[in-house]
Amino acid sequence: MANNMKILLVCGSIAKKSHTRALLMYLEVLLKAKRVETIFWDLLKKPLPIALPEYHKNPLDAPDFNVKEFVNYVTESNALVLGSPLYHGSFSGVLKNALDNLYYDAFCNKPVALVSNSSSIRNCAHPCEHLRLVVRTLYGYALQSQIGTSSEDYEEKETEFVLSNKDIQERCKRMIDELIELTTAIQSHDISKED
Ligand SMILES: Cc1cc2nc3c(=O)[nH]c(=O)nc-3n(C[C@H](O)[C@H](O)[C@H](O)COP(=O)(O)O)c2cc1C
Repeated sequence: MANNMKILLVCGSIAKKSHTRALLMYLEVLLKAKRVETIFWDLLKKPLPIALPEYHKNPLDAPDFNVKEFVNYVTESNALVLGSPLYHGSFSGVLKNALDNLYYDAFCNKPVALVSNSSSIRNCAHPCEHLRLVVRTLYGYALQSQIGTSSEDYEEKETEFVLSNKDIQERCKRMIDELIELTTAIQSHDISKED
């Protein structure tokens, strides 16, 4: 069980009916089952303004309330899960903009799980691969495993998608175990900052 652990999930799709959101919601249920406290930041419901360069050094001075809340949630979290659809061969612009609103070392000592979705299996992991570089730049530890899904892994309901592929569900369980284990290890050691 993972008491005293807070994990922030960030949904980089602003589609009203989103596969990425469904995947993140599946992961959130697994985290809650392990007694992890979760925060789900849905950029559809809580949009962030275009990141202004003048607040790059101190994002908490940004006038927008959502930016302050998002920055504080990232700071409070022990780990993150970032999810994105495949947009033009990479992760979504709204997710990049969300990350641009953060401190340069916002993910210091934080493991980060990466998941993505595309309409087809081709290139569905590209958002994860590209996010990996950004996570490293923000001083985070991207997990070794990642999950790239395609639309056929979901069942379509009236108002939402639901993850239905059993193999992906198993991968999700393994990823959550890896995330909790790495977060526990980092919490119990004082890892100093490096560039
Ligand atoms: C702006 C935009 C760009 C996209 N670019 C690609 C792409 O390069 N390759 C691809 O296969 N699908 C592309 N798609 C399709 C999305 O990857 C696909 O609809 C995905 O399932 C969306 O995930 P979501 O339901 O979580 O929003 C694009 C969609 C949008 C809106």
